Amino acid sequence: MRVLSGIQPSGSLHLGNYFGMMKKMIEYQQNEDLFCFIANYHAMTSLSDGKTLARGTLEAAANFLALGMDPEKSTFWVQSDLVEVQELSWILSNFTPMGLLERCHSFKDKTARGIAANHGLFAYPVLMTADILLFNSDRVPVGKDQKQHVEVARDIAIKFNNEYGEIFTVPEAEIDDNVATVPGLDGQKMSKSYGNTIDLFVEENVLRKQVMRIVTDPTPVEEPKDPDKCNVFQIYRLFLDKLQEEALRQRYLAGGLGYGEVKQELFVAVRDYFAPYAARRRELMADPEGLRRTLAFGAQKARQAGGRVMAKVRKKTGLAY
Ligand code: ADP
Ligand code: TRP
Repeated sequence: MRVLSGIQPSGSLHLGNYFGMMKKMIEYQQNEDLFCFIANYHAMTSLSDGKTLARGTLEAAANFLALGMDPEKSTFWVQSDLVEVQELSWILSNFTPMGLLERCHSFKDKTARGIAANHGLFAYPVLMTADILLFNSDRVPVGKDQKQHVEVARDIAIKFNNEYGEIFTVPEAEIDDNVATVPGLDGQKMSKSYGNTIDLFVEENVLRKQVMRIVTDPTPVEEPKDPDKCNVFQIYRLFLDKLQEEALRQRYLAGGLGYGEVKQELFVAVRDYFAPYAARRRELMADPEGLRRTLAFGAQKARQAGGRVMAKVRKKTGLAY
């Protein structure tokens, strides 16, 4: 099965990004034909500073590679290295009813929040459709917010196939209900926009401060505590196996466990879990040329897969003459 997903480059990484999405993508490499790319064209809908985008792209690549993305086992590239996707996007625009895009929640939400609508924001789902259809993707793992965009891709694929025959694979969105939302320091969803994150690749003192800021209730040390209502426990369990989790649960229930003590343990767990990845990431970031070579290799693989589809599309549409 070909599994494809795109991830916008977005500065720092937090535990929600890792446990909610990246870890799963990296695991797909074992049993699936994984296509994974850094969606830098899409990032342009919310970012206009060129230096920030270029740096963010390299950082996103280093993050994924450090955490275990293997360019031999998967196809891993930067979206804008395949301009083919823009050509396909234009072609698909001609099979995209205005109403289909006007109904998209993400466009409607952004404009409702006062973000000035431009064509990029409006056409975003068409570009995403091109990303998906260019590689005959079977499955597209996304968060709930992107589900409608995959439905747009299905509609466009069907419309195009009705006109020209079975050119595109009609993709399925894959929403994993088992991936729980990782809570942030305050118990809300961990998100950059809420300022409640624990970050993967930050200095030790920054990490310690973040962990110490986790909101807890005022139950005195000696009293029993409810682990299911504790933000520290909910985050800590991401790092524990079943037995370890049960042992920690019992310590909560027994009383005598202070939140300061358990936060200190969590800090050590997070630091030690990511330390080898952080070291690898530093090496990768110290060699941007090496990173660019790895990404060029990925783009080459992606181009081969996309080229086959594009050749059929150009023939059927008459662009090849
Ligand atoms: P943020 O909310 O911090 O801006 P993004 O929207 O950039 O995060 O998230 C990128 C991906 O990381 C999302 O598609 C989602 O799958 C995953 N993700 C982000 N936050 C969480 C969370 N708290 N729990 C689970 N997954 C998350
Ligand atoms: N729009 C997606 C997001 O913001 C990223 C993305 C771009 C994508 N193209 C894609 C995801 C194709 C899946 C398939 O999260």
